[in-house]
Amino acid sequence: MIDKLNVLLESENQKYLENTKKSFEKHKASENFMPGGNTRTTQWMEPYPFYVDNANGLHIKDLDGNKYLDFMLNATTLILGHAPPEIVSTLFRQIKLGTVYSAPTDGQTKLAEILVNRIPSIQKIRFTNSGTEATMMSLMAARSYTKKTKIAKFEGGYHGTHEHVSVSVYPKESDLNSETNPGVPEYSYQPKSILDDVIVLPYNDIEKCKKLIYEYKDELACIIIEPIISNFGYLPLDLQFLRFIREITHELGIVLIFDEIQSFRVSKGGAQEEFNIIPDMTTLGKIIGGGLPIGAFGGKEEIMDLFNPSSPKYDIAHAGTFNGNPLTMEAGASVMNALTDEKYSQMNLLGGQLRKQLKSVFDEIDLKVQITGYGSLFGINFNKNSIRDYRSFIKNNTEMTKILFSYMRNNGILLQVKNAGALNTLMDQNQIEILVENSREIGLQIKENSDE
Ligand SMILES: Cc1ncc(COP(=O)(O)O)c(C=O)c1O
Repeated sequence: MIDKLNVLLESENQKYLENTKKSFEKHKASENFMPGGNTRTTQWMEPYPFYVDNANGLHIKDLDGNKYLDFMLNATTLILGHAPPEIVSTLFRQIKLGTVYSAPTDGQTKLAEILVNRIPSIQKIRFTNSGTEATMMSLMAARSYTKKTKIAKFEGGYHGTHEHVSVSVYPKESDLNSETNPGVPEYSYQPKSILDDVIVLPYNDIEKCKKLIYEYKDELACIIIEPIISNFGYLPLDLQFLRFIREITHELGIVLIFDEIQSFRVSKGGAQEEFNIIPDMTTLGKIIGGGLPIGAFGGKEEIMDLFNPSSPKYDIAHAGTFNGNPLTMEAGASVMNALTDEKYSQMNLLGGQLRKQLKSVFDEIDLKVQITGYGSLFGINFNKNSIRDYRSFIKNNTEMTKILFSYMRNNGILLQVKNAGALNTLMDQNQIEILVENSREIGLQIKENSDE
């Protein structure tokens, strides 16, 4: 029997090959120098990524002259769109004054002050160059503070690429046991010592989490969790579950770390303020650097004092040649200042409308699709089951997922490869309509070519 969905996917991929010939040539040339032709796994897309020529406002243009309405936004980073004039002029001003020095600048203090004032859990903050470094430093802080060594993370949770968070991030279905713990290594020969130190918990399952957390309570330094799970189309966790995690960590002296590297964009004070659940530490990244590389971690003063060389509690050296570099700090402060209450309300309102409209489109077509998301974040999931955790998320239909992504790309709309995305402050009902109408069009084709 012909797999009609596969024929549809092949025809979309064929169109892409025809439209992106210059990108293909570049990709082939790049493969001579970099494995896979680039240097970031999330830049990869099938059959090869398009190469960007420039970007401005709502759109990216590739080398072949194709224009994409960008909902990918460098993994949610570009909350003011591409090359916003206020950030460009801030950067020009700073670049003439020098790009980096081994001494602090006012930019650091400005951005630190804004974030400390906005984020309920952060009394003191430190900057890094990536979210990966931010989560890595926060685990060190939790260990030193609690004098315990194990960490707990969730199955399917992504917190960057360092060893201790690289456990059970994308486990294959065939590697899953009936329990989440022990975790599944992310690569062959990942040291057993790392796996032994990482306890893997299931999202949204209070009973199983309670059992594991009590079992390891004397060894657990921290639990790291995203309040809104980026990897599952921005699924917000059940509030009852998040409250339970807050209470049990408080009771057992375990540091609770909220990874808000993506979810910080849902309100001025992040998801923690929105849900009124306040962790002990928070990690940040993406939007706070104004489009330049950044990460940050912060929390209670008594924990952050571990990084203070003039404190008797000083325990952890936190160096980094480009930490707090003035270009990122100035751009970050500009972006944060541009994000007023009004802008958040406007983006979140639009996000709500988008999710509602997408849901009614797929309901009308009678396709089993779940629309996930929160605030300005959204995800389109071809899934018959309710998505609650990693095991239900991976039931998403892979073929339909690829078809929608590929169709959108051919029609000038850029999503994340798993069909999630984010809005920015430049968007209005027009961009929502474009996404919704294209979803209707490809939804009808998928329905026609499937047995559903
Ligand atoms: C939730 C979360 N944590 C951590 C990271 C790592 O951040 P970075 O890519 O800046 O190292 C990311 C990046 O996508 C993320 O989404």
